[in-house]
Amino acid sequence: MSDPRFAEIDACVFDAYGTLFDVHSAAARLRDEIGPDADAISQVWRQKQLEYTWLRSLMGRHEDFWAVTGDALDFALRRFGIDNAPLRAKLMEMYLELDAYPEVAGTLKKLRDGGYRTAILSNGAPSMLIAAAKNAGLYPLLDAILSVESVGIFKPHPSVYQLAVDNLKTQPSRIAFLSSNGWDAHGAGTFGFAVAWVNRFQQPRENLPAAPQAEIRTLADLPGLFGL
Ligand code: LAC
Repeated sequence: MSDPRFAEIDACVFDAYGTLFDVHSAAARLRDEIGPDADAISQVWRQKQLEYTWLRSLMGRHEDFWAVTGDALDFALRRFGIDNAPLRAKLMEMYLELDAYPEVAGTLKKLRDGGYRTAILSNGAPSMLIAAAKNAGLYPLLDAILSVESVGIFKPHPSVYQLAVDNLKTQPSRIAFLSSNGWDAHGAGTFGFAVAWVNRFQQPRENLPAAPQAEIRTLADLPGLFGL
């Protein structure tokens, strides 16, 4: 049965990292080379990457997500006492070929077959997003790949979410926004999207404005909101 809160939707817009792509698959693939701190390094890398986006946006000092991801990795490696330029380079390369979560391709296909448009809206630089989408076989399943580089500021700035409205030429309330990142789900909600929080990691709810309309466990639950 479809969810009435998603009855007017005509496009689905997805966050990329953590939602479509498993950011921890980079360090996981190089686990032997990194050593016992691989998982902890990956967690610090991701957390710093996000913090740097928020901080740079507040400072008015934008750099693209490739640079921010490298800066965050350098911090994480330093924090764990690793000084290894070839390993750093390999970890960065892995970011261009992250694993997609297993249900993603099938979900995108089902949505498109059901008449919904699909797009990525991400902090990622265009070249990063295109590489990852192509590598994971998602590229032909997407109508648009939208990057914050068009506006020069990171999520959750409203001008980022506006990109989807401008590109898809529809009202915010007719866009379903999907993110596993709680803060991004609330950011999109304050903008006016119909949000489903993909709570992959069984996190508690955030105390931020605009609670998501729905909470799902993986993207496999998404077509059900539309009665597909
Ligand atoms: C993105 C970050 C938030 O893809 O994961 O925009």
